[in-house]
Amino acid sequence: MNKFYVTTPIYYVNSRPHLGHLYTTIIADTVARYKRQRGLDTFFLTGTDEHGVNIERAAEKAGLPVKQHVDGIVDEFKTAFAPYGFTNDHWVRTTDDYHKKAVYELWKRAEANGHIYKGKYEGWYCGNCNEFYSESEVEKNGEGTLICPTHDRPLELIAEESYFFKLSAFQDRLMELYEKDPNFIRPEARRNEVMSFVRGGLNDLSISRISVNWGIQVPGDPDHTIYVWFDALSNYITAIGFGNDQFGGEEHFRKYWPADLQLVGKDILRFHTVYWPAFLMAAGLPVPKTVFAHGMWLSGGRKMSKTLGNVINLATLRKHFSTDSVRYFCLREMVFGHDGDFTYEAMLDRVNADLASGLGNLASRTLTMVRNYFDGEVPEAGSADGELRARASEVRDGVAHALADFEREFEIYSFSRGLEAAWAAIARVDKFISDAKPWDLAKNPDQREPLKLVLHTAVETLRHLAVLLVPVLPESTQAIQEQLGQTNQISRIAPSQLKWGESAGTKIGEVKPIFPRLDKKQIMDEIKTEEGAQPEKSETIEKTGEVKPAPAAATEVAPGVAFINIEDFAKVELRVGEIKTAERVPKADKLLRFTIDLGEAEPRQILAGIAQYYEPEKLIGRKVIIVANLAPRKLRGFDSQGMVLAASIGEEGRPVLAGFLEDVPNGAKIR
Ligand code: MSP
Repeated sequence: MNKFYVTTPIYYVNSRPHLGHLYTTIIADTVARYKRQRGLDTFFLTGTDEHGVNIERAAEKAGLPVKQHVDGIVDEFKTAFAPYGFTNDHWVRTTDDYHKKAVYELWKRAEANGHIYKGKYEGWYCGNCNEFYSESEVEKNGEGTLICPTHDRPLELIAEESYFFKLSAFQDRLMELYEKDPNFIRPEARRNEVMSFVRGGLNDLSISRISVNWGIQVPGDPDHTIYVWFDALSNYITAIGFGNDQFGGEEHFRKYWPADLQLVGKDILRFHTVYWPAFLMAAGLPVPKTVFAHGMWLSGGRKMSKTLGNVINLATLRKHFSTDSVRYFCLREMVFGHDGDFTYEAMLDRVNADLASGLGNLASRTLTMVRNYFDGEVPEAGSADGELRARASEVRDGVAHALADFEREFEIYSFSRGLEAAWAAIARVDKFISDAKPWDLAKNPDQREPLKLVLHTAVETLRHLAVLLVPVLPESTQAIQEQLGQTNQISRIAPSQLKWGESAGTKIGEVKPIFPRLDKKQIMDEIKTEEGAQPEKSETIEKTGEVKPAPAAATEVAPGVAFINIEDFAKVELRVGEIKTAERVPKADKLLRFTIDLGEAEPRQILAGIAQYYEPEKLIGRKVIIVANLAPRKLRGFDSQGMVLAASIGEEGRPVLAGFLEDVPNGAKIR
């Protein structure tokens, strides 16, 4: 039997569960249900990442023994997820004994193969990212302290003895993997990013800490604690039997590994596509088939995160929306792989339009008519004139197309397009019903046959959709199937196994609303009150809890903006520059070194932190905007004599170089 192994990242227990966590789990659960429905022997893993200095500190702050503290948070995760009925086969915890045992095993194998050595590490560490930064990668705040670019918090200087993983030795093998297998990293844009990063060279990775206690000890050297990412990434194999006897140990592991789909947020892509395959290669194990990076749910244009404090409250979500509505919104609204902005307004609109007026309305009007006109028994496809017959056939063909399109899109994890295809079938049958007016046909006994055809076609469409949508809407498809009188576990069969017309003669069940319409105004007011804001139109409410006044009229001075006068602006000398040469800076992932012609006697050397987003060779000849009178500074041993301007996009601050649509001479002033 074909197998399918799908994983979510394991969630840090240093924060409460939020929409980001729920989102990845919804996707994984949908994929797992989809694969099971198609007969694949599926294993779905999720769980919690419970080690690290931050978790230790949080427990200290809470005045609890660390294990007791994390147990409480794990319970919160499980409670928050429970209503969604996720079908994960196991919940891995990195504090479980079998996991620890197996992490040792992975370490020992990598060490025996010569990929781990002892040395000394010095670097700037962010306990929130669990990552080291070099000075050139980060900015200083007003007091001169180095600040984490993701969390806006001071970095700590750590200098200690450490074990290192020889990541640098894996550069070629990793590049070969990315090149040979385009499906290893998806989507394509993320693959390019990772390739460009690895092409720039890899440093060995420090994989142990002396200063951290809460973690797994290094085999044979208990003074050292294994780096949390080495520990955490291992979960994907430890929880299916690698190096321990969980679930039937080695045999079970060999059955499911390599994973078919590892879902991750794009913020943790590098760990999963550089470190993780390298660790596996070091231990002589196969790498996963696909690591798919999804986008971030944003709130007011910023990433939702515990550190920024703008997360969507899962209790609020649960209170106002059915679990199927949340699943549907997550899969339909966010184009998988891209970022999406989460608003309750958009969710209410989507649920009302697609679920209440769309699928829900199709179910209730079809079933009510079957009950009223045919005493609750699904009619045979009656005979009808050519015109009506042709339109009924179009609906039937449309359902076949929807099934095929949905399948094609879901196979490539293009969930929102798959759902669009299903909803196209709903729109088609809705129009068919409205045009055929069965309520008029029912008034005339001579029109009994056409009436049968209309309702037979509507019921069959609904029955097919109620099977097709099982992975996305498990509760409501079950309810629709019951109302259709389908008591034969059709949720277990694949849509392709359904035969058109099979429902004729079935007695339908009790007709009940599936997706009641939501009162947008009332729910929005309730949500705003619950979140502690005033339900007034004139306020913009940020999830940070801060209530900001609505933007002032154009003629007024916007509050909070520190204006400069024209003399201040004149102090900044902006000039047109042409990039003459561009290259990467060895051992600095983020830096490019340019020579730029500003129309002066000599071109200038300028460094810019854009290496993760631009291929240097493609920038040659490009006209850019340079801050020409910025005091020179040294970056990675190179003098940088100016600054290249770029827009900073999204939470990750993706740079987009500023430039011109028309030709401009080098050195021209910008004012
Ligand atoms: N513990 C690590 C993962 C280790 S996997 C071996 C971790 N945990 S996390 O709890 O911080 O994040 C888990 C997942 O939630 C990540 O994939 C992250 O991208 C995702 N999300 C967190 N916030 C998110 C949004 N706002 N939107 C979508 N997903 C986001 O990282």
